[in-house]
Amino acid sequence: MMKGKTSELLEMAQRCLIYVTDRPPIVMERGEGMYLFDTEENRYLDFVGGWAVTALGHCPPVLVKALKEQADVLVNCSPAFFNDKMIAFADLLVRHSCFDQAWFGNSGAEVNEAAIKLARKFGALHKKGAYEIITTEQSFHGRTLAMMSATGKPAWASLFEPKAAGFVHVPFNDLNAIQKAVSDKTIAIMLEPIQGEGGVNIGDAEYMKRIRKLCDEQEIVMIVDEVQTGLGRCGTLFAYQQYGIDPDIMTLAKGIGSGYPLAAVLAKNKFCCFAAGDHGGTYGGNSLGMAVGIAVVEEIINRDLSSYAAKMGDYIMDKLNAEAAKFGLTRIRGKGLLLAFDLPKDAGKEIVSKVLPKGLLLNSPQPATIRLMPPMIVERGHVEEMIRILSATLKEVLG
Ligand SMILES: Cc1ncc(COP(=O)(O)O)c(C=O)c1O
Repeated sequence: MMKGKTSELLEMAQRCLIYVTDRPPIVMERGEGMYLFDTEENRYLDFVGGWAVTALGHCPPVLVKALKEQADVLVNCSPAFFNDKMIAFADLLVRHSCFDQAWFGNSGAEVNEAAIKLARKFGALHKKGAYEIITTEQSFHGRTLAMMSATGKPAWASLFEPKAAGFVHVPFNDLNAIQKAVSDKTIAIMLEPIQGEGGVNIGDAEYMKRIRKLCDEQEIVMIVDEVQTGLGRCGTLFAYQQYGIDPDIMTLAKGIGSGYPLAAVLAKNKFCCFAAGDHGGTYGGNSLGMAVGIAVVEEIINRDLSSYAAKMGDYIMDKLNAEAAKFGLTRIRGKGLLLAFDLPKDAGKEIVSKVLPKGLLLNSPQPATIRLMPPMIVERGHVEEMIRILSATLKEVLG
């Protein structure tokens, strides 16, 4: 039964929030580790993890401590000045990756724009104005106008016309298609090592290696969008590390702030070619966000949560495999804690809505796909709780 406070809030939401998506009639109020709590104190086991965001769970003590301590010292001195945390965070990220320099933003789409601008500037300076970016079908790169053009989501193809020009889409995991799409206008290939929103589609090892080779041969910038795959989620700090390649540019967001809005673009020296005024943002690199980022990333590294994600991912896969035959689940897949499986029919939305009142949050990125992206602090007991609710719901929906 919905109580007064919740219905009042839902009425206010209807009245004063711009509609952008369907949301269930509950209002979240509090988070703690693996759980979210609504305004009626109902508890939800969170296998969506703020959309692959809350790497350390909800309100992790290291994040809260960093926020409180930094809030007393300096929040934002403006992007016109260096600040100590910005420098320290860039140093931390470049020391643990193959990149040389970083720029900080606040969302995945924003740093993807920065990556595209770096590549196009490089094209203007060194490749006779080449500007075209090859991206993949079923990719997701964000919701700004240019990133909607970059994204390979069929439903967006005719939205918000005219789109930003200069993006070419090719099928994922198809090297031939990329080779055919390359022209003297091409400046970059941008892709997710594992397509998250596309349904957890894993880039083949050979495909990623051959793209690297193609980029070297044709002087094309290789950009990996690790907004969803980065920061340990896929079993290594960055997913590209599993392919034995070094990309030229990488973008990060989501897990980097474990819920705090924070993002970064990292690049090799050769591609750090902005001149003064080419790029910026009022909040990019603010001390508060940087302090959070340092605390979160150090925690992920110090506790080796990448290896833990790999181990727990295997455990979840085993559990899902044990359910597969009962319900006709197929293509149980993923790396670390970015996992998905297919249903025998388009019942993704129904399952997500039916596990909710049972206290479980799941996600369905495609009509017949369920995706799991829990915080990287998930324990075996949480997995068993998730499987219990999921299994009962699959039985209800699929028989
Ligand atoms: C791979 C990838 N890139 C970019 C984005 C966009 O990030 P944001 O929503 O922070 O702009 C997302 C969001 O889901 C993503 O999964």
